[in-house]
Amino acid sequence: MINKPRGTEDILPSDSPLWQKIEAAAREVCDTFGYREIRTPVFEDTALFQRGVGDTTDVVQKEMYTFEDKGGRSITLRPEGTASLARSFIENSLYADPQPTKLYYLISCYRYEKPQSGRLREFHQFGIECFGGTADATDAEVITLALSFFEKLGVTGLKLNVNSIGCPVCKQEYNQILREYFRQHQEKLCETCHTRLEKNPMRIIDCKSEICSAIAQDAPKMIDHLCPDCKEHLDKTLRYLDSVGVDYIIDPSIVRGLDYYTRTVFEITSDQLGAQSTVCGGGRYNGLVEELGGKPTEGIGFAIGLERLIMIMKSQGLDQEIPQSRPDIFIAAIGDDADVTAQTLVYQLRKMGCRAERDLCNRSIKAQMKYANKLNAAYSMVLGDDEITNQKAELKNMADGTSKPVSLTAEEIFQNIQ
Ligand code: HAM
Repeated sequence: MINKPRGTEDILPSDSPLWQKIEAAAREVCDTFGYREIRTPVFEDTALFQRGVGDTTDVVQKEMYTFEDKGGRSITLRPEGTASLARSFIENSLYADPQPTKLYYLISCYRYEKPQSGRLREFHQFGIECFGGTADATDAEVITLALSFFEKLGVTGLKLNVNSIGCPVCKQEYNQILREYFRQHQEKLCETCHTRLEKNPMRIIDCKSEICSAIAQDAPKMIDHLCPDCKEHLDKTLRYLDSVGVDYIIDPSIVRGLDYYTRTVFEITSDQLGAQSTVCGGGRYNGLVEELGGKPTEGIGFAIGLERLIMIMKSQGLDQEIPQSRPDIFIAAIGDDADVTAQTLVYQLRKMGCRAERDLCNRSIKAQMKYANKLNAAYSMVLGDDEITNQKAELKNMADGTSKPVSLTAEEIFQNIQ
């Protein structure tokens, strides 16, 4: 027997209603905030992520599913959505539309990580990206969209953590301070962080190695080294959040694991997730579009991990009230003629929008009724020779056991089960 690859999950029919509810909530919230759906390819040119996400990140250095296709091109399964959306924004000249361009996506992502609770190799994200929003209020709009989504689903107990990681100007000065700090601990750093020290010392802060992250705990914080413009942007963002009554924690330790971020970064966490406590991560990326060959364009967005969201929803019992689909009527049949009539009626009822069901396993009549019960059908009907001759049958209400005669036309059955 061949099993599913490590770090992947089957989403079974019993869980599908929960996924559908989440997806519907995402679409509804995005619609009210004016975000429109975009779908991009599952795989992209590897260079997109090397340049977009950054070649000193864990994602690019260790976690990408990269392969050569039959044409000799280097292809990568998307580890996230932001770089793909920035590419699409440039390639399809979406900047020519009235700005900002507000997009959302529901996608699968691929990262070769060590699987554990809340960490998969194939996972799903609901994300949004806002390109070309130059006003300071954009950051608060993006954050409040995420919070509105959780609220719509009834999820509680989440914490919003906000930080600023500055712009290229203040980041450069900060990187120098950081380098000096980490040089004091150089011999203890992991091999990857040795290279990061010169190229991109901020990456050491989110290194997954225990020793590196322990050293990083006492490292100088970006928030204490922001330039006046970045400081003002952070203050304004917090003021907008205050104005709509959003609670947040300023967490100077957030640096995010991807290179494109500038200024505002944020994470939404839950105590119910264990070690992988972040359900939503996002931030600004004012340099990304230009890095990928477009004109300088401001950008900000977030992504929510749907498997982690489902873990939270299940632990809060929010998967309980979702109704599973069930047949409106089950038509059982004994004999060839009755079987053909059952088939015709089921077909006609389905065309009328009715969830009609019949047996497809040649069951005995007793087993057909047992099956109708298992499916939790609202009504049932048994067709035999008499019913075919008289063109009438008993329509049984499965909840209260009552029944009434109806003629064997889809219209009459339909009317009586509404
Ligand atoms: P990220 O923090 O890498 O950011 O991922 C966002 C969310 O995806 C995480 O908070 C987590 O819930 C989920 N996630 C990440 N990796 C895994 C995994 N291996 N297994 C299960 N869930 C996972 C991004 O992807 C950015 N593109 C977010 C963004 C959008 N920033 C700006 N715009």
